[in-house]
Amino acid sequence: METIENFNKLNSIKPREPLALIPTMGNLHEGHLSLIRHAKKLNLSTIVSIFINPLQFGPSEDFSKYPRTLEKDLDLLRKEQCDFVFIPDDKELLLDIKNLEAPLNDVLCGKSRPGHFDGVLTIVNRFIEVIKPDFCIFGQKDFQQQLIIKEHLKKINSITQLIVHPIVRDKNGLALSSRNNFLSEPRKVKAAKIYFHLKEIAEQILDFDRGNHKFLEHIKIIKDFYQTKYSEEGFEVDYLELLNASSLESLKEGDKEILIAVAINYEGVRLIDNICLTRPIS
Ligand code: PAF
Repeated sequence: METIENFNKLNSIKPREPLALIPTMGNLHEGHLSLIRHAKKLNLSTIVSIFINPLQFGPSEDFSKYPRTLEKDLDLLRKEQCDFVFIPDDKELLLDIKNLEAPLNDVLCGKSRPGHFDGVLTIVNRFIEVIKPDFCIFGQKDFQQQLIIKEHLKKINSITQLIVHPIVRDKNGLALSSRNNFLSEPRKVKAAKIYFHLKEIAEQILDFDRGNHKFLEHIKIIKDFYQTKYSEEGFEVDYLELLNASSLESLKEGDKEILIAVAINYEGVRLIDNICLTRPIS
């Protein structure tokens, strides 16, 4: 694996094509590694970026607390036989950066974390400009993030195509995230309930569809019920939303692709998860 620390070196490398970029903020876990394995299965060469992006953290967020585990990350990447790791210098990367405004930003995490997705999009766009990968790979856990990047790539007619990889979970169903490191083992077990209820919601939507009920009324009932359920179980719900999975707009009767997305604060740790489902309607 070659380590790249500046643009000079970046411009001198000759990666085998097609090349896939996997942007990360380090503190790598199985979720990230599965993106590399996926790229390999598709016979793509891989460049992983590690950069804790200050632009995407709000003033009261955990930028300084964000886990920094570079040596361990590099070991993991070597084991996965990643081809390149890009660890840019922040001054060089951020110099004259074009600040972008993210689309699809007024709901879900965009609403709760003002400026967050502008910061994500700005940095991902920068990586794409300087690396020019054929593909970039994102996990579905950050559903809104991948949708914003997808919209942006479409808008700028980019040569880079987006690949989205399913969420990787621990044995109890908790979606893997670097923030899980802030939870003790018993709390991780309890946090798996977040996904357990998402599955129940998905099942109930599909069940209602088999019946003859008014879809939107049921959506409201389910949403209210599970918001209360999460709170009763000790989870502080930032949002629980059921939305059109492509536009992130409120659901309409005939919508087929539904995103069920949740953000929870649990013992001071922000956890997000989602399920995307297709209703069996014509
Ligand atoms: O998902 C993340 O880790 C970050 O938002 C990303 C895409 C690396 C941009 O900083």
